[in-house]
Amino acid sequence: MEKEKFYITTPIFYPSNKLTLGNCYTTIICDTIARFNKMLGKDVFYLTGTDEHGQKIAKVAQDKGMEIKKYLDENILDTKELWKMLHIDYDYFIRTTDEQHEKAIQKIFTELYNRGYIYKGKYSGHYCTPCESFWTEAQLVDGKCPDCGRDVVYQEEEAYFFKLSEFGDKLLKLYEDNPNFLQPTSRVNEMVNNFIKPGLQDLCVSRTTVSWGVPVEFDPKHTIYVWIDALFNYVTALGYGSNNDELFKKYWPADLHLVGKEIVRFHAIIWPALLMALDLPLPKQIFGHGWLLFGGQKLSKSKTAGTTEVIDPRILIPRYGADSVRYILLREIPFGSDGTYSTENYLKHINTDLCNDFGNLVNRTFAMLKKYFNGVVPTPNKQEETQQDVDFINTVENAKTNAINYMKTYDVSKSLTEIFTIFNKANKYIENSTPWELAKSNQEELKNVLYNLLEAIKIGTVLLASFLTEQPSKVLNAYGIEKPSIEDIEKFGSLKSGTVIKEIGVLYPRLDIEKELKELSNL
Ligand code: MSP
Repeated sequence: MEKEKFYITTPIFYPSNKLTLGNCYTTIICDTIARFNKMLGKDVFYLTGTDEHGQKIAKVAQDKGMEIKKYLDENILDTKELWKMLHIDYDYFIRTTDEQHEKAIQKIFTELYNRGYIYKGKYSGHYCTPCESFWTEAQLVDGKCPDCGRDVVYQEEEAYFFKLSEFGDKLLKLYEDNPNFLQPTSRVNEMVNNFIKPGLQDLCVSRTTVSWGVPVEFDPKHTIYVWIDALFNYVTALGYGSNNDELFKKYWPADLHLVGKEIVRFHAIIWPALLMALDLPLPKQIFGHGWLLFGGQKLSKSKTAGTTEVIDPRILIPRYGADSVRYILLREIPFGSDGTYSTENYLKHINTDLCNDFGNLVNRTFAMLKKYFNGVVPTPNKQEETQQDVDFINTVENAKTNAINYMKTYDVSKSLTEIFTIFNKANKYIENSTPWELAKSNQEELKNVLYNLLEAIKIGTVLLASFLTEQPSKVLNAYGIEKPSIEDIEKFGSLKSGTVIKEIGVLYPRLDIEKELKELSNL
């Protein structure tokens, strides 16, 4: 049977700075969702990459006194290295300076022109270079960019325009007919009230004053507006507009474009309008996630002077492991809302959740299996099963179902909470069933307790392996599971009696938080 397809994308990143924990957030959630869908048996394609044209990038390279392409090549190596450190398992990394992408963008622009959706006019208005956004006088807030609050520049130039104004009603209908198209729903109100209801304006889609961009094929003194160039990466990466569009035919439309809330309007207004203009199918969902905040601010610097807050993943990963960084980001931002990061909270969660709730549970259970059953999974004795056993099994099954269901709506943090419910209940089950007492008095019940614990750990860890990429696979290897799959956890009780499970070392070493904070502040 042909596998169900699943195509997921991150935004493509501006290589203007070194990436921070904030940027890692989008990529880690996408990676988790991609892995989870693979675990469910789907044929997944996960795309990420870099957005390399435009005024902002040209300026950054210029300020560093570097040739633009050389600057980009170095920066992209650094980005790829970071994704490797975080075990981001993407299927393709697109760069908008790739020849295939640039050629396809030129063709697409010409096609939009030929279809009558692009016309030549004159642009006069304001431009925010850091956001690469055009604004009208009325949209400015106190004369500044309404998105980032920075200065804008007034510009007048000959330019091409995309007839965005024709798409207002079509977009309203799209949101109405497909409530899933844009999530969470609060973002729909934002788009409708702030942008569509006041009236969409035609969008300026070319520049004559920006040379670092893709030239318009039929009028090369114009370069294509960087957001048009960028949005189409989602299809050019699949070969759309090239000689080989097999992947495009296979995976488009995307199941999910996951983006930060500040760029929802590009994805939920401009992108579907462009696709409609080309008669291409629309993505199934745009999800606008919240921000990781640091002291109420969106993170931007790698370290904030005078505090112990470390937000550079390149410092945290070698010290505490990729699992811990993935964990804190997936846990701390309730999906769709903002979340606050602090180094102290991060370190505390390593101790309480990873070290205690998960790591210790595994170590003590495996140690009991060795002590009481010589490391061999016992056969449970259903006749001797207690109400406590039945309740525990039901709780694990419920949490498993919830964890899977939350992932269907991409609610990663709630799903992770359900997985930890399994581990927390397993710890309580140990305390309440006191296996060390059963060892003296009731061998049959001891078999049930140990079997149920091992099965619960297996189920929780198969689920967890999409979120955390280091220690869970070590645990699963002990069970003989190389590649976690839904089939391993379909029904409680699939763990085979007689399986030999060897003890594994400490999964997450306990941290002395005071000491760590002190050391980090001295870095
Ligand atoms: N290049 C555009 C995207 C084009 S997609 C066709 C862009 N790039 S970006 O580098 O500025 O941002 C990439 C992603 O990182 C965005 O989804 C953005 O929201 C996310 N984040 C950057 N800082 C963030 C936080 N502090 N918290 C969460 N996500 C944040 O926009």
